[in-house]
Amino acid sequence: MGKEIYYPNKDFSKQARIKNMCEYNDLMEEAKSDYEGFWDKLAKEKIDWFSPYTKVLDESNAPFYKWFIDGKLNVSYQCIDRHLDTKKNKAAIIFEGDRGDKETVTYLELYRNVNRFANLLKNEFGIKKGDRVVIYMPMILEAAYAMLACARIGAIHSVVFGGFSAEALRDRIEDANAKLVITADGAFRKGKAYMLKPVVDDALSKGCDSVEKVLVVQRNFEDITWVEGRDVCYNELVKNQSNECEPEVMDSEDPLFLLYTSGSTGKPKGVQHSQAGYILWARLTMEWVFDIKDNDTFWCTADVGWITGHTYIVYGPLASGATTVMFEGVPTYPDAGRAWKMVEEYKINQFYTAPTAIRVLHKTGEDEPKKYDLSSLKVLGTVGEPIDPPAWKWYYEVVGGSKCAIVDTWWQTETGGHMISPLPGATPIKPACATFPLPGIMAEVINKDGTPVEVGEKGYLCITKPWPSMIRTIWGDDERFKKSYFGDCVKDGKPVYFSGDGAVVDEDGYITITGRMDDVINVSGHRLGTAEIEAAVKKHSNIAEVAVVARPDEIKGESIFIYVVLKEGDGSFGINAELAKEINSIISTEIGNIAKADTIAVVPGLPKTRSGKIMRRILRAIAKGEEIKQDTSTLEDPSVVEAIQKAVNG
Ligand code: WT7
Repeated sequence: MGKEIYYPNKDFSKQARIKNMCEYNDLMEEAKSDYEGFWDKLAKEKIDWFSPYTKVLDESNAPFYKWFIDGKLNVSYQCIDRHLDTKKNKAAIIFEGDRGDKETVTYLELYRNVNRFANLLKNEFGIKKGDRVVIYMPMILEAAYAMLACARIGAIHSVVFGGFSAEALRDRIEDANAKLVITADGAFRKGKAYMLKPVVDDALSKGCDSVEKVLVVQRNFEDITWVEGRDVCYNELVKNQSNECEPEVMDSEDPLFLLYTSGSTGKPKGVQHSQAGYILWARLTMEWVFDIKDNDTFWCTADVGWITGHTYIVYGPLASGATTVMFEGVPTYPDAGRAWKMVEEYKINQFYTAPTAIRVLHKTGEDEPKKYDLSSLKVLGTVGEPIDPPAWKWYYEVVGGSKCAIVDTWWQTETGGHMISPLPGATPIKPACATFPLPGIMAEVINKDGTPVEVGEKGYLCITKPWPSMIRTIWGDDERFKKSYFGDCVKDGKPVYFSGDGAVVDEDGYITITGRMDDVINVSGHRLGTAEIEAAVKKHSNIAEVAVVARPDEIKGESIFIYVVLKEGDGSFGINAELAKEINSIISTEIGNIAKADTIAVVPGLPKTRSGKIMRRILRAIAKGEEIKQDTSTLEDPSVVEAIQKAVNG
């Protein structure tokens, strides 16, 4: 299967923006021969500037790169106002609730709703340019309004995924020193109401001194506690606001948003994105990777709490004037045909989801797609984790009817938008392969010293030139930014961006991602740091030592496997379901349910080197049930390996 090649659909190619590999190569050559000229042309064409930039790229303070120096713009203007002349009555967002309730918002309505929201932020809460606003929201229209309203007035939003716990929310509020939290009473999932506001109350019960007010959108109208003087109800208040709100004039490099993500060490990092570079790439990738056209309806199933939701539910589709679908529920409720029913009903043209969702839909409803008319589909996308060939094939044949390109998009929170992906009208696709870097993106698989790797050999996946939508810094921690991303690899003597991923290049130059090379785990496309989970587990009073590793999982991609050494035990070792319950309850309080472990093993000790470093490779191999091939002679106590194996395998 690895060598099988799927050529683009000819009819599709004819109408695509990038029609063949020659066109792709030309763009790439253009970028290579005049990098700034390449981006200059695109930025002039794709952004409506309030006033032009004076310089394309400033590398003087690398790696703190700056793009489109002194340019002035507003991202909400790019996403909304810009379209009013030609598209005011076009659907901007189609919302579908968990229980089937529907609402379509035109560009003109979006304009008014965002302006009213922005006025509310300014007038009622005194939010100004540069203030941080945390958005802890379900997948409802107001989440998109809130983001765009912040963009309109120049406030920096930090969306926190609704599945994160109170502790995780508190950490993020405190790190950003947020002035306002926007939330909802709750929402609906699988036919039932669930709550968010109590989590906010819990988060704010300690610390969070910077927070002045909490704005609450009523969605499920369940009873909640209202804190006098702090909590404000959105639904009524917003009606009194004016429909007009001047967009704030923003500098290209002003921060647009922060989005926290996990690293291999320490607390989550507040990834800081810019205005101009980010929105340019959000729009361009919609055009190149999804080939979005004026009459297309685009559906990305992510949550707005992740970068995929930022770039491909809100900013990218709206910046390109498309119709974007926002879905509150899950694709398997009320049955495994839900997603396909929606594709049929809205005549979805591009469908973008995670391999985990594809695996679940494949497993629970292999023949479901056949019950619906999916002929509107043109491009299918995957993101967040490697997809396995069987899931890929089902997606291609059964969902796409063997006529849609599958774009396996590799990127990260830090990159803002796609970096490596097939182009649906041009790239001959190898299943489960991200293929080639996008035009202008200098992604390379190299050794640490910048030399290229041999064909088929794993190397460091780096981006060797700055790009417009790149992370600008880690909020409040420039040093960590430099160390995390520019501390590992160099090329031509200059530090280059290292993604944390490994990759291989085949004899045709195709890039396949092999996964993280650091201690980051990917569960169902969610990125989790082992260090964070370990810190949570240590809060259990009887845990002396802990090591968290990933184990391959058929559905989730990876699952969490935890080894613990007890302070006081009864001398018995092995998989412990009782303790797993206790530990998972702590994890769910400290981080959220997404970080819960599948397996917890009590072991007599951990494999450590003489300098005290835990050799996770050994623990990963044991979790997988593999033979230990690694050299264990450098361990402080090599006999511990056998003892752990005995504990795990019984
Ligand atoms: C990590 C980034 C990109 C938005 C969602 C996740 C993994 C991402 C792919 C892909 C294999 C992938 C990488 C990356 N990843 N896309 N197409 N194939 N792996 O964003 O939470 O920042 O995670 O997701 O390991 O580093 P994120």
